Amino acid sequence: MSSAMAEWLAGKTIVVTGASSGIGRSTAIEFARTSPRDLKLVITARRVDRLKQLAEDIKNLVGDGVQVLPVKLDVSNPADVAGFLDGLPAEFRDIDILVNNAGLGRGVARAPDIAMDDVRLMLDTNVHGLIGMTQAVLPVMLARSTHGAGDIINVGSIAGREPYAGASVYCATKAATKSFTQALRQELVASRIRIIEIDPGQVKTEFSEHRYYGDKSKAEAGYADCEPLTAEDVAELIVFAAGRRENVVVADTLILPNHQFVAFRPF
Ligand SMILES: NC(=O)c1ccc[n+]([C@@H]2O[C@H](COP(=O)([O-])OP(=O)(O)OC[C@H]3O[C@@H](n4cnc5c(N)ncnc54)[C@H](OP(=O)(O)O)[C@@H]3O)[C@@H](O)[C@H]2O)c1
Repeated sequence: MSSAMAEWLAGKTIVVTGASSGIGRSTAIEFARTSPRDLKLVITARRVDRLKQLAEDIKNLVGDGVQVLPVKLDVSNPADVAGFLDGLPAEFRDIDILVNNAGLGRGVARAPDIAMDDVRLMLDTNVHGLIGMTQAVLPVMLARSTHGAGDIINVGSIAGREPYAGASVYCATKAATKSFTQALRQELVASRIRIIEIDPGQVKTEFSEHRYYGDKSKAEAGYADCEPLTAEDVAELIVFAAGRRENVVVADTLILPNHQFVAFRPF
């Protein structure tokens, strides 16, 4: 007997951005594991070799009930985003769920020393990329039935709620994600499209490595004496939100580790 969540998700087409690593990769696996009989998964990122490996891994895990399509997509490139939908095979275009997960933090510099290349990279990926993908996919959802249907799940961050020193631009991108998400929910409140935001605290992924320009020892130091979330922890919440029955919107959720790194310990 399949679970209620498996039944609700069955037959859906799901797009995950940033699926080559971390939360996005785990989210693709978790969707496949939760609804293994009839699902279409479009997994996207720039590192397409990793996506192909993920498609293999999912096939080995659940068999042929989940069709996985790896698609090379740079969300910061407007041409990639504009061509995304039309570039999909027809049977993958009827998208039900978009997980806007691709994102990054770059550097720990403070103003006035923040490299403008890093500013642009974070804004282009986390803000322009997320807005662009939303606009590319929303018409598919709006065209459904009389009031539209579908889920847009945006991965924000605690950084969008509680900005901190050394990450001003990253925090600003995640605050922008929150504002955009909230306004979008208002714009679509009379539709059946669900606008969902999941805000994680610290998660152990490749995120910190990118923040420290590939310096693994600096990245590891941020995990000393604490236990961050895993990518799977966040993936479970994303799939839980998507797996609710139609009338339930898990609108805005903060997920934290019990014991997170902090710059200044209050006790
Ligand atoms: N880790 C944390 O502590 C944490 C906490 C809160 C929120 N988040 C958010 O969670 C999301 C996922 O991060 P993660 O922790 O899983 O980090 P990660 O392991 O570094 O994964 C980031 C993913 O984003 C993709 N990506 C980056 N730039 C891209 C671009 N221009 N176009 C397409 N894909 C791009 C990467 O793929 P390619 O490089 O192959 O393109 C990769 O698959 C991000 O939005 C991040 O801000 C993370």
